[in-house]
Amino acid sequence: IVPRTRKEIFETLIKGLQRLEYRGYDSAGVAIDGNNDEDKERFIKLVKKRGKVKALEEELYKQDDLDSKADFETHFGIAHTRWATHGVPSAINSHPQRSDKRNEFVVIHNGIITNYKDLRKFLESKGYEFESETDTETIPKLIKYMYDNRESEDTSFSALVERVIQQLEGAFALVFKSIHYPGEAVATRRGSPLLIGVRSKYKLSTEQIPVLYRTYLVLHLKCLISLIGNIENVKNICNSRMKRLDSSTCLHAVGDKAVEFFFASDASAIIEHTNRVIFLEDDDIAAVTDGKLSIHRLKRSASDDPSRAIQTLQMELQQIMKGNFSAFMQKEIFEQPESVVNTMRGRVNFESSTVLLGGLKDHLKEIRRCRRLIIIGCGTSYHAAVATRQVLEELTELPVMVELASDFLDRNTPVFRDDVCFFISQSGETADTLMALRYCKERRALTVGITNTVGSSISRETDCGVHINAGPEIGVASTKAYTSQFVSLVMFGLMMSEDRISLQKRRQEIISGLKSLPEMIKEVLSLDEKIHDLALELYKQRSLLVMGRGYNYATCLEGALKIKEITYMHSEGILAGELKHGPLALIDKQMPVIMVIMKDPCFTKCQNALQQVTARQGRPIILCSKEDTESSKFAYKTIELPHTVDCLQGILSVIPLQLLSFHLAVLRGYDVDFPRNLAKSVTVE
Ligand code: F6R
Repeated sequence: IVPRTRKEIFETLIKGLQRLEYRGYDSAGVAIDGNNDEDKERFIKLVKKRGKVKALEEELYKQDDLDSKADFETHFGIAHTRWATHGVPSAINSHPQRSDKRNEFVVIHNGIITNYKDLRKFLESKGYEFESETDTETIPKLIKYMYDNRESEDTSFSALVERVIQQLEGAFALVFKSIHYPGEAVATRRGSPLLIGVRSKYKLSTEQIPVLYRTYLVLHLKCLISLIGNIENVKNICNSRMKRLDSSTCLHAVGDKAVEFFFASDASAIIEHTNRVIFLEDDDIAAVTDGKLSIHRLKRSASDDPSRAIQTLQMELQQIMKGNFSAFMQKEIFEQPESVVNTMRGRVNFESSTVLLGGLKDHLKEIRRCRRLIIIGCGTSYHAAVATRQVLEELTELPVMVELASDFLDRNTPVFRDDVCFFISQSGETADTLMALRYCKERRALTVGITNTVGSSISRETDCGVHINAGPEIGVASTKAYTSQFVSLVMFGLMMSEDRISLQKRRQEIISGLKSLPEMIKEVLSLDEKIHDLALELYKQRSLLVMGRGYNYATCLEGALKIKEITYMHSEGILAGELKHGPLALIDKQMPVIMVIMKDPCFTKCQNALQQVTARQGRPIILCSKEDTESSKFAYKTIELPHTVDCLQGILSVIPLQLLSFHLAVLRGYDVDFPRNLAKSVTVE
């Protein structure tokens, strides 16, 4: 192994940040060891920049010493890309945050510290001067305070971190670095995700090894990457197998290999290095010292299982690359024929017309006996609940409530132990949804997670669940996750109704619809050029209404959300039944209106809405079934879609709107994958 130069270390850090950038991109920063010379005073080099990771990279390349050939035998660097919560996007507010001008302690943080005002007041009273507006800055200052007031010279880095997190309220994933503990890293979490990638790679021999262990730490959003090396342990390589790690064991190099550890809050940041990961639990404190990783609990109770399994992720690097597409969002839209198949794989048996969701089967009896189903999510995930509510009511014969997580909490909604609560979340980390989950758990309801992220907080904290298996979704605007959430909820309804004689015909019809779905999605995707032409006509407009009802109301909400979030045009999803109660006033010759009119039980009512629009000189662009000759007579333009069973039609009708929003955003000159002010995973309330 060749020792790393500072440039190599930065390159590793920057690459890791870029993989995570889709989750937050207001500003970015790195911190690594400033020198590797034992005789000189150690210092930590800190570079921070407002804007995307690219801006940070350019800043780093401006710095003369980047090309220095100095080798680091022991090194530990952290990097972070931020999505602002407290304080405007700026270099000073970006992470790492520091304890003082000497950078004695630097910290990166994902989450929110809710008692930061009290902590800040206390620290200011002790003479600490704050430079940023962030909640995070209290953390490095607090650890410095703990360090300055430590009882013994031997106090370990992780003991200090332990003391710090006892004072913190809120949510956090944190990684600490300090000039007082060179080459050491301590990471911890509560409420925000953090995982450790484990890789055995390097063949070692004593001559060759200035760096035996190297640890890369990556934490998303408010995120970091760091690496650590140490030659001390060449002789201490132990033969422990890397199967389980508990609080009394350290993870060592195995046999003639060294172990690298990659800390991250999102697997996509580390997948090019390893797919073997340990998911940290709340209040785990993971420390890397002398190249060994140890994990211990903040407060260990008798019921705590201290062991942490190493799991193998199925994700591949290729899945998080854009390939031939110009944006992740575009790639993900075009992946939908495969992603819906992956959602159904091994679950829907088309021959026997049965559906088995392995993650729910042990709870099925309990679910069948429940008082009602409550489906909770935010944004697009909430729309998936709206889209499937009707078919779930039909197939489960239970009352179904759909709830926006934030509103559900604001209302202190009554929840009972015989309720079954579903939590829909692509990331599995959305703070509002997670809070709603905890709220329902406290009230002893059965909780079910529908997520796209194995090991995410929601998938771990729910009693049971379904992974939608759509594959990593990188584009901030959710597309393939929506259609896979939709399919997952329909599959749940089908599983619930397996024994209902009266529903067999309907089930059969839906299962046949699921079978032909991938081909039909391909057919819809072939309309891309036509939709691009439509975008050419519309992209200069300020506003766009999307109208429909019944099974396609959710399509309108979701289509409008896609349009507003990436094109910055005003867009509204309108329930056609509400048209005459207000929105009709918006209709005139100029206002572009998209109407979703499908051959389903609402067809006639949609025709009425169409008449109301055309009677006011509106010029509707109609999404309709291929065989619908009636609607097209009144249309300014039509987009004709293949016809499927009513309750699945929304999967097909949303795709033209996904494509339209994509083309509109490109034509308006916006960065589709990085819409302003948004982040992929909203881990703050
Ligand atoms: C919109 C979008 C958001 C998310 C919402 C919930 O395109 O992506 O509205 O759907 O932030 O996120 P998850 O599903 O990760 O809980």
